[in-house]
Amino acid sequence: MEAKRLTGEKATEYIKSDMIIGLGTGSTAYYAIKKVGELVKTGLKIKAVPTSKETAQLAAEAGIELVELAEVDKLDLTIDGADEVDQNFNLIKGGGGALLREKIVASATEKLIIVVDESKLVDYLGDFDLPVEVTKFSWQYTKRMIEKLGCTAKLRQANQNKYITDNDNYILDCDFGKIKDPAGLALKLNQLPGVVENGIFAGMTDLVIVGYKNGQVKVLK
Ligand code: A5P
Repeated sequence: MEAKRLTGEKATEYIKSDMIIGLGTGSTAYYAIKKVGELVKTGLKIKAVPTSKETAQLAAEAGIELVELAEVDKLDLTIDGADEVDQNFNLIKGGGGALLREKIVASATEKLIIVVDESKLVDYLGDFDLPVEVTKFSWQYTKRMIEKLGCTAKLRQANQNKYITDNDNYILDCDFGKIKDPAGLALKLNQLPGVVENGIFAGMTDLVIVGYKNGQVKVLK
């Protein structure tokens, strides 16, 4: 918890007045959002695009002015968490279900800062099942197509119901084993009919801020 707080708060040091920032989703991004709220109260002028309904609510409660992505040309900076980070800064995201908006915001941003605790650093992506957002209409068909790429896929559940994303889709959590070619797999997945987006973020990250149990925080570039 402390490692997540330290990394989340450290990332806010990169925010400058008049920036438009993206706010990620999850328990590490939470600390960044709280800190941005404090900075706003002491005079920082920023606007923010949230990556989920949960983050929108949290940010609004923290007093942060929100804007729609449609209202801005680009974002200066985005702070978000990740489920796994490999040595080349490829990520798996979507454990919290917000991968679609997170990827759109990450793609629209000049600088993507990822905040994680040390447990998220891996040699290869894939121990964490890869979340893939799919349409309700075709999910069983799309699941079979995805499994042909070499995984077993499970439909995500929440409280014994099917998990539904902010965009009214389902999520398949896919066990591909070690993912040796994240960018290639991301492309193949997004070519399948019914796949809305996948949780591989390849070549998008500029900085990774890592929080350690012993209280250390490292900025990896
Ligand atoms: C949300 O969909 C995810 O991409 C999160 O950013 C990711 O799951 C990391 O969350 P935590 O910081 O809670 O581990």
